[in-house]
Amino acid sequence: MEYCSTALLLPIIKGSSGQIPPLSANIQWARVHVGATYGTAMSDHRIAILPGDGTGREVAVEAMRILDTVQAHTNHGFEQVMIPCGGQHYKETGEEWAEGSFEFCRDEADAIYLGAIGHPGSRLPNGDLAGGSVILGMRSGLDLYANVRPIKLYEGVPHKVHGKFTQIWEPGLVDMTVLRENTEGLYHSLLRRSADRALGREEYIPPEMTFPGLDGEVAYDPRPISVNGTERLVRMGFEIAQSRNGAPVDGISRVSCIDKSNVTRGCQLFRRVFDNVATSYPGIETDHGYIDAFMQWLTRTPEYYDVVVSSNMFGDIATDLGAVLQGGMGMAASGNIGDKHAFFEPVHGSAPKHAGQNKVNPIASINSIQMMLDWLGRKNGEEELVQISKLIDESVADHLRDGKSLTYDLGGSATCSGVGESIANRLSSRLSEL
Ligand code: IPM
Ligand code: MN
Repeated sequence: MEYCSTALLLPIIKGSSGQIPPLSANIQWARVHVGATYGTAMSDHRIAILPGDGTGREVAVEAMRILDTVQAHTNHGFEQVMIPCGGQHYKETGEEWAEGSFEFCRDEADAIYLGAIGHPGSRLPNGDLAGGSVILGMRSGLDLYANVRPIKLYEGVPHKVHGKFTQIWEPGLVDMTVLRENTEGLYHSLLRRSADRALGREEYIPPEMTFPGLDGEVAYDPRPISVNGTERLVRMGFEIAQSRNGAPVDGISRVSCIDKSNVTRGCQLFRRVFDNVATSYPGIETDHGYIDAFMQWLTRTPEYYDVVVSSNMFGDIATDLGAVLQGGMGMAASGNIGDKHAFFEPVHGSAPKHAGQNKVNPIASINSIQMMLDWLGRKNGEEELVQISKLIDESVADHLRDGKSLTYDLGGSATCSGVGESIANRLSSRLSEL
């Protein structure tokens, strides 16, 4: 292995082209290096790979396999820089990630992939989740104001209910994109604290408040919702609606504003800003709903939804229910997207009880790379990357339609790497025809 340095003058290990790293090696490097680089010298995109905790490390390998596959068949190269991080890393090293990692993601990487954060019992001295500097610190510190969660049900994906696999929702009738505000709302203080840690700033502590009528110990989280934060999120929602084919039920492009404006002031502001932004998009239908009622409609008439925008905590909760419609968390990909930066992450988390068994579903991870290439392509005006991202989606769809190799969460017994290889092989064939 040869050594080189980043602009941050931090040591990096260079691997041979296209090589998939052994997982155990990642853990070993965690103590010593900020990153390990895979890929060729011809790379035109530098991707930070943050495997994180538990099963995040396994599905990250499948994400890298997809990047390697694209690189092997096209002119698009990816320099993949591995950055160890997370709760387990914190337990082993006393750091959530090596110093300079945040700056590397901000200043050196074109896009970021995150596996999962969360290790049982791993908390910071202040009680916050260890690894929070990574996921929450990047959301706030890189100003990734939109958490974009596509909710699409592929053919061949059953729903697990009452311990049995059945088809409840119909493929073709579930295809929406939910945008959750990602930098403010109920998460604001925690996000801010996490970014402070990542950036080495002094920790933000929200001002003391008293609550008339409440005695004894009181814990609270301020829930600021700003005009600017709402406006940019809603605008992205309308832009995304313009690039889609409308709602499954009627093909109409529609953006739904989901809030609780019958009760909270923050939501009243959110809805007012939504209505203002909507006037700039006369060709797109608007729709309003309260979050509690939306939970019913999401399950009963998902076909009505095209794009949905919501505040931080409501969006967090609603999208996990949305994941049920798409076949579970193993199918749920996400993008944390701002104007300059973005990280892409499967939403299932580290799933410690399944870790190390090569059994979890890599599709959320693979589709996170699909989202990454779509984002990179649109951002840089590289139409071919957008096309390649569609081929990844088609390869996933083919694999699932075929139905022969499904992981346990979809009723099969296939391995994580087996599914990853099958999808990568399908992608190879499609790319060869490009
Ligand atoms: C998510 C997760 C995170 C969140 C956790 C891990 C902090 O649930 O990405 O949806 O609450 O935002
Ligand atoms: Mn969540």
